[in-house]
Amino acid sequence: MKLRSIELALPNAAEAAAFLTDVWGMALAETRDRTIYLRGSGTFPYLLALAESPDGYVRSTTFTCTPDRLDQLKHGVAAAGLPATPTVSQDPGGGHGIVVELAEGELLRFLADTSEVEPIEGADLPVKLTHIVFNSADAESTGTLVEAALGFRVSDRTKGMVFVRCNESHHSTAFARAGFASLNHIAFEMADMDAVMRGIGRLRDHGLVPAWGPGRHGPGANVFAYFIAPFGPVIEFSTAVEKVPDDYQAGAPEDWTWPEGRIDQWGMSDKDFDGLREAEARFRHRREWEPAPL
Ligand SMILES: [Fe+2]
Repeated sequence: MKLRSIELALPNAAEAAAFLTDVWGMALAETRDRTIYLRGSGTFPYLLALAESPDGYVRSTTFTCTPDRLDQLKHGVAAAGLPATPTVSQDPGGGHGIVVELAEGELLRFLADTSEVEPIEGADLPVKLTHIVFNSADAESTGTLVEAALGFRVSDRTKGMVFVRCNESHHSTAFARAGFASLNHIAFEMADMDAVMRGIGRLRDHGLVPAWGPGRHGPGANVFAYFIAPFGPVIEFSTAVEKVPDDYQAGAPEDWTWPEGRIDQWGMSDKDFDGLREAEARFRHRREWEPAPL
């Protein structure tokens, strides 16, 4: 199972795409039916789909998997009674599968038989997405739900988050204990720490400073720099999230505490709590399909 892409709808999609290609560092994959697809240097045909819309919302987050894993998912989702529908992807990479709505409206799409593309050069391009985090009213229940229905595994619990994995990466998603449901942030995997640091410099050249970072997290131990994108959501340069074994022992909030005044391993940057919280509430989930038997 791999996290592949997120599909957003938003006003002024072309303007958002221009920021992402000219400043953030992505490459245009293609434009199809008024949807702009942006890619990184890796083998996924796209990481971000931007559909033009009067308001901003999340259409789906897409994972790719084998046909066998897709079958397991269909059974798990049906057994959990979650709203879902079979789907055939019209996006680059094609494939077929299901799209599922979790308890707080999160929309996860699982595709099998997708195609990938040749990697491209570009040291300042993200390689891929590394995680998508959602805000939740009840992150604990959602963690339990994705374990039961999707076969995901909770990797760690902190005071703020429930971290969830779907492969050997410590987390591909997480649910933040926010009190409401929305997109928390989108994290891009950069090739190395240098690429993260050059990214911070590139944004600084355009007058943008991190809302938090650079720093190194506790759970997952990944390097981060969070920005509030001019088009609304929180986006992150990240690198080198830990890989964990199958029998990784999930940590509890009391296992992940910080010394006074610290909220990451390095302690070198301030966090714009208010700005981030506002940006993390902007993109809500919106289902564009009717549930159907799988
Ligand atoms: Fe993150």
